[in-house]
Amino acid sequence: MSRSPITGSGDFAIVIMAAGKGTRLKSRRAKVLHEIGGQPLLAHVIKAALQIVPAENVYVIIGHQAEAVRKTVESLGVQFVLQEDQRGTGHAIMCVRDQAQRYKNILVLSGDVPLIRPETIARVRDFHINCNAGMTILTAEPHNPFGYGRVLRAGTGSHRVKAIVEQKALTKSQQKTREINSGIYAFATKPLFAHIDRLRTDNAHHEFYLTDMAALLVKAKATVVALKADDPSEVLGANTLAELSTLDALLRIRKAYALMAAGVTIYRPETCVIDPEVEIGADTILEPFVQILGQTRIGTDCRVRSFTIVRDSQLENNVLVRPHCVIDQSHIAAAAQIGPYSHLRPGSEIGEGAHVGNFVETKKTRLGRGAKANHLTYLGDSDIGAHVNVGAGTITCNYDGVNKHLTVVEEGAFIGSDSTLVAPVRVGKGAYVAAGSTITEDVPEDALALGRSRQTIKSGWARQRRESRAATSAKAKAEK
Ligand code: UD1
Ligand code: MG
Repeated sequence: MSRSPITGSGDFAIVIMAAGKGTRLKSRRAKVLHEIGGQPLLAHVIKAALQIVPAENVYVIIGHQAEAVRKTVESLGVQFVLQEDQRGTGHAIMCVRDQAQRYKNILVLSGDVPLIRPETIARVRDFHINCNAGMTILTAEPHNPFGYGRVLRAGTGSHRVKAIVEQKALTKSQQKTREINSGIYAFATKPLFAHIDRLRTDNAHHEFYLTDMAALLVKAKATVVALKADDPSEVLGANTLAELSTLDALLRIRKAYALMAAGVTIYRPETCVIDPEVEIGADTILEPFVQILGQTRIGTDCRVRSFTIVRDSQLENNVLVRPHCVIDQSHIAAAAQIGPYSHLRPGSEIGEGAHVGNFVETKKTRLGRGAKANHLTYLGDSDIGAHVNVGAGTITCNYDGVNKHLTVVEEGAFIGSDSTLVAPVRVGKGAYVAAGSTITEDVPEDALALGRSRQTIKSGWARQRRESRAATSAKAKAEK
């Protein structure tokens, strides 16, 4: 049977070990719930696994903060197996025996090795099948192997493995071995479960180490082989907060380079934070220090200037976002211009060619095609028609302390500066609202609404005041 490069035979399950506490993080949160690239470590691993086998064949071993872990990833549809006491990686696999035995082989992934690529998991699977192996270990030679288990090969150049030795148990001469165990394996389930009960806890942590299966299986005459990953950064573990930050940076830079390869210009990519699922079109430019997060899609020929944060939003083509904007769950149509210092809160829909300027906040607001709100404005729960001009300092009073109400400004209307629109209220098509007005009643189409007190002029008042003050102070001096 031919095998596609990634998805393969149904006789494999994937087991993900995610029950551990993560003592070295010194955190109350379970290790696999810590995030890189805006997603929990475990979500990265599950998503890679789902590229290889369907969700019903993915078993996640949970234990420490089991319910929190389950809740975080259950939408991915995978199966969960409880490891009530966390007595080591070998014990974790003992807990999944009933489920795993239904498959000829299992792939084992670690919940704290999140950068693993599906292509590499598939390589482990294929190598394992081709070698007809009992156990296949994915290895690497990272710059600094300290802390990892080391893989001892049967001889130089041999695929065969003798044993895996944990850092704390390394002899002086073994410490020179640079090849590390990634914590990612393939096992034939028959020999695995025939011998797993022979694991012992006579080690530094008094745990059942899955790594000891290598020597056990060699002794039982099974084939134990190692496959080295091309890129060691793919199998780095996240055991400390420093390691987490390294992995986060790696993930971000990987994403930035993929976008650049697809035609996106990113100045100083090391300063930008771009989540893995973000999509950006060619000829868009990202300036230094931008964050593009969540499920954001940006079109072609856009420019996002420095210090802007965009989350879960869509920007169509040719959009300009000037510096220091926050854009959240919003949609911006083509050729619109935003910022500097604009805050688009959830539900903002900015029309084609519209302008949102300095210190303008929008929420649940549609700004029509070509409309402008350029300065110091709050538009909440509003529907602003095409080509409306919203003057500086305009405020929609959308909240009466209990309920939110809608403000509608129809096409072509002009809202003078420093107006307050007390919702619910409607300004008709082409109407004018005079500057400084408080609008509490609907304004008919093409009308002018003045909602302010009439100006009074008192001629000469200021001069009289000056003169009277001067006279008073002269009198006071003379009396001294
Ligand atoms: C493990 C390997 C080590 C390897 C390294 C790679 C062992 C004994 N050592 O060490 O050779 O170089 O990974 O990253 O396996 N877990 C459970 N239940 C448990 C204990 C752990 O599910 O009882 C899970 C953890 O949540 C984690 C994974 O297994 O996702 C690995 O455990 P961890 O404690 O991080 O092992 P390392 O010390 O990193
Ligand atoms: Mg680890």
